[in-house]
Amino acid sequence: MKPKNSRINRHRPAPQGAVPASNEIIELTIESLSYHGGRGVGRFEGVVVFIGGVVPQDVVRARVTLKKSRLWEAELVEVVTPSPFRRQPPCPVALRCGGCSWQQVAYAQQIVQKEKIIRDSLRGLVQYGAWESLPILEAREEFFYRNRIQIHFRGGKKGFFAPRTRDLIAIDKCWIADERLNDKLHEVKATDGVKIELAVNERGEVLTIAGERDPEAALFAQVNQAQNEVLKTRMLDFISVKAEWIMDLYAGSGNLTFPLAKHFPGKSLTAIELSPRATERARALSAEYPNLHWMAADVGEGLKQIKKLNGPGLIVLDPPRTGVSQQVCDELLRLAPQQIVYVSCNPTTFARDVERLVGNKQYRLEKVQGLDMFPQTEHIELIASLCAAT
Ligand SMILES: C[S@@+](CC[C@H](N)C(=O)[O-])C[C@H]1O[C@@H](n2cnc3c(N)ncnc32)[C@H](O)[C@@H]1O
Repeated sequence: MKPKNSRINRHRPAPQGAVPASNEIIELTIESLSYHGGRGVGRFEGVVVFIGGVVPQDVVRARVTLKKSRLWEAELVEVVTPSPFRRQPPCPVALRCGGCSWQQVAYAQQIVQKEKIIRDSLRGLVQYGAWESLPILEAREEFFYRNRIQIHFRGGKKGFFAPRTRDLIAIDKCWIADERLNDKLHEVKATDGVKIELAVNERGEVLTIAGERDPEAALFAQVNQAQNEVLKTRMLDFISVKAEWIMDLYAGSGNLTFPLAKHFPGKSLTAIELSPRATERARALSAEYPNLHWMAADVGEGLKQIKKLNGPGLIVLDPPRTGVSQQVCDELLRLAPQQIVYVSCNPTTFARDVERLVGNKQYRLEKVQGLDMFPQTEHIELIASLCAAT
């Protein structure tokens, strides 16, 4: 079976030590899907090969585009035997657009692959002891979940960019965007080169924001509102400590802070967030929580100013994809809360940071659960609990 729209991987300059190889056609079976770019992984004569637009158990023919010593990249030429997990993507441009890497994969299989990515990312932590792995919290709606999208205008057309290029893929509907955004999409007009963000706010109003948006602060807490509600509930479920003091680090506009303030009435709660605009917005909503203190600061700098507190403490952290620095881990170890709840959008940096916390046996990883915030893509949200080891 030939896919209607085989994904076109543009040739980028070969990295050092890599050889561009344009015409060699190989046949292989796809074993799994990777976290990096969501591409499929197979093996050809012992060499690992990365290919976009494929499904685990597909047998495919692919053209090799890049060769490194133990790793090749290839582009899909033909699906020889389709996987039982392959499906026709509902979106006609899914295999060309950079927005969705996994629409051709049945949703249940997307979850299987995300579970595997989490397991593989955390493998290095096994030496520090066992933890409970809870099943991924699947999204109830696998389509039409995004509450904001960025549209680009070029050559009189509107759409999204192709993977790893700025080639415009024209669209008249996005299958992962809220239907209210799709209605608005038909109306918006702009001149070439302009970027427009369409967003549904908390009141259900559709906003049209032209140009660059505030780079410091996300306008709304999370892109998938339904799964964000699941995340907030799960965060509270994970808390086992009867905390006397609480910190919410990388707090944004208080998405997790306000549920914590309600959960621990009267307890001291410090929220740290880099963006002054986000903290300003959150402070304005904090009047009913006299014990909630907002700091507009870098987390590392903010923590340095805080003396070690008495009694059992809880620190919740939800950093960007880069995770936290060694300095922040050192500050967490100094403050020594009884429990740390770590929300992560990157299993790789999560594993690195957890190793820094469990490495000297001050903490142990208690449980980990994935949450599917972004169906049709390889992106993964994680929530984990670490407890003081003594
Ligand atoms: C993944 S978001 C989480 C926001 C919030 N917890 C939520 O649930 O919406 C990460 C947040 O960390 C903030 N941030 C990034 N680097 C930071 C730093 N070095 N210090 C403090 N905050 C930072 C970003 O501005 C962003 O609001």
